[in-house]
Amino acid sequence: MSSPDITDSEREAVAAVLRTPYLSMGPEIEAFEESVASFVGAKHAVAVNSGTAGLHLCVRAMGVGEGDYVVTTPFSFVASANVLLYERAIPVFVDVDVQTGNIDPSLVAQVVQALNEGGPEAERWLPRRGAPSTGQVKAVLPVDVFGQPADYDELQAIAEQHGLLILEDSCEAIGARYKGKPAGMLGDAGVFAFYPNKQMTTAEGGVVVSDQDEIAELVRAMRNQGRAPGDTWLQHTYLGYNYRLSELSAALGRSQMERLDALVSKRERVAGWYSERLAHVDAVEVPQVVGSTTRMSWFVYVIRLAQGLDQAEIAEKLAEQGVPSRPYFAPIHLQPYFSEQFGYQTGDFPITEDLGARSLALPFSGVMPEEDVEYVCNAIAKAVNGPV
Ligand SMILES: Cc1ncc(COP(=O)(O)O)c(C=O)c1O
Repeated sequence: MSSPDITDSEREAVAAVLRTPYLSMGPEIEAFEESVASFVGAKHAVAVNSGTAGLHLCVRAMGVGEGDYVVTTPFSFVASANVLLYERAIPVFVDVDVQTGNIDPSLVAQVVQALNEGGPEAERWLPRRGAPSTGQVKAVLPVDVFGQPADYDELQAIAEQHGLLILEDSCEAIGARYKGKPAGMLGDAGVFAFYPNKQMTTAEGGVVVSDQDEIAELVRAMRNQGRAPGDTWLQHTYLGYNYRLSELSAALGRSQMERLDALVSKRERVAGWYSERLAHVDAVEVPQVVGSTTRMSWFVYVIRLAQGLDQAEIAEKLAEQGVPSRPYFAPIHLQPYFSEQFGYQTGDFPITEDLGARSLALPFSGVMPEEDVEYVCNAIAKAVNGPV
């Protein structure tokens, strides 16, 4: 489905680490953090060993705990909601904007209002079971889906009005911009992720960015077994984790950061080839980039099939032609452990479910040749229309 874009000099940067005594907690981590901080204009950047780890630490650093409500989206990769379950907080899902698949701010405003007022109106928004009605809304957790930022002007206004924190899941969106502002910096803290299918990679890894000293200091301490500044190796001020990133990964990340703009541009070009060719295929909708997205960062290229087409059947017809594809995303609320714990059912978030049922992620990377895009597009045309 994707291929990382790694140069010989980046390979050499990783190999060079093996010739030093520092395989963890050394100069590469510091350099990588500095490069991410300066790229997005953050006061702090803290590298961790996955995007999930970064989100989890932010949830803890923001003081979100047992029984707290966090308003978030079911149209995401499961990790964005799982990190709330790790802390026994309650994800309160609202449906998404049909065009972008990002959390719908007008629903966020309604749910926050209702939950603050309590009573039957609040009950309407809470899951059927597993959520105490005594919780308090602490935060909003929007996801920048597929590399397109959510609508932060609206979300920030709501957060300000109700004294909420915003944790931006920008795991799919490094390099994106919202009204000129860098993704990751649109809330109180943001998290990037660097699995090999991402815009840039550290093999496994992530970075938390924030302008807030307290959040960043807690995240930094908790990623390293809870050691606060000044603690010795066996002193642990906080309950922490081993969420450290290795020097090998940091070296790869630091060198990839040097060409992040170019990496995003290459993906943009491939996305352009797809959209140009698929514009002629009526049964397929291509991804929409909305006006507030001043730079789309193209994590994946996801098409939507026309109503009535069967996702599994089209995927099968593509596979027969040697083209892999994936439904993307599978709604979080319908994952077995979510519906078991909270009683979610099909029909609870219709836009998310419709997008989940009609979306197919196509093979995509910045190094994909134009002829491969051409081949995939012809395969799609055949799959949806019969031979062209
Ligand atoms: C929206 C979203 N959140 C969180 C994550 C988790 O990142 P990681 O796989 O690095 O833990 C991902 C990764 O794919 C993601 O797409």
